[in-house]
Amino acid sequence: GLNMKKVTKAVIPAAGFGTRFLPFTKAMPKEMLPIVDTPTIEYIVREAMESGITEFLIIINEGKECIKTHFGRNEVLEKFLKSKNKDNELKIIEELPNKIKVSFTYQHEQLGLGHAVLCAKEFVNNEPFVLLLGDDVYVGNNKPATLQLLEAFDKTNSSILGTLEVPLDDVSKYGICEPAIKTNDRLVKLKSVIEKPKKENAPSNLAIGGRYILTPQIFKYLETQTKGAGGEIQLTDSILRLMAEEDVYSLTIDGTRYDIGSKKGFLKATIDFALNREDLCEDMKNILASYKNK
Ligand code: G1P
Repeated sequence: GLNMKKVTKAVIPAAGFGTRFLPFTKAMPKEMLPIVDTPTIEYIVREAMESGITEFLIIINEGKECIKTHFGRNEVLEKFLKSKNKDNELKIIEELPNKIKVSFTYQHEQLGLGHAVLCAKEFVNNEPFVLLLGDDVYVGNNKPATLQLLEAFDKTNSSILGTLEVPLDDVSKYGICEPAIKTNDRLVKLKSVIEKPKKENAPSNLAIGGRYILTPQIFKYLETQTKGAGGEIQLTDSILRLMAEEDVYSLTIDGTRYDIGSKKGFLKATIDFALNREDLCEDMKNILASYKNK
């Protein structure tokens, strides 16, 4: 739109216990699980950065301070790399601190995603913002997933949920959207959303895929949100209440999603990302080929 303020801020909740990835997550945040050589959360930050986002808030809990270390400067390491003329390595670790600002806040009690997002209220400061969940890594076709959402936001000026179509047997793992009209358009106005419905109660197979653009009106509802599915304060429930006040849309993201929270998704990401790397593609192909006759 013409007079609209550009979206510059992103929020990334990373305060869960990661129980699905024990024992790794006993001492290490699951957001630091490496895909090839890069922590999962860095791919997510880069997706938003490549979409024009410059300010980040990462919501952590006690014990996850290594995420802070990862996004900060490391002057000792920088000095060492300089002295050894390791210019490439230096470039890799200096890029993010040079381009973006990352701040942190704590969620002290794990009460649910809605409660985690409420911890971002001050940072967001009454502007629309991007919300990226740490389990979902996207490789966008042509454009990063976040940029696809931001371009749609330019048209609608309303909250938008990034979605994917899932098999009916999987709807109970997601927030599910009910489109207001039947259409083949990727961008559609929503009538309702429901968190983790049973298959029989699902209004569609259009699942929320861990990417959102939200208007700051969401905080009004998060502040009074009662517990929902799984006894947690659910973001989806507040989005449903927001719909009474404002339009909310969904946009089917054009790209591949990896569910890093599942072991299968994590393993597949490792293989696919290695295949997409010039320095590793041949090696990974040879490894995969060596399994063929086993
Ligand atoms: C969260 C959201 C859900 C969404 C999902 C996507 O659930 O509550 O609406 O579909 O992320 O990954 P979680 O997977 O944290 O239980």
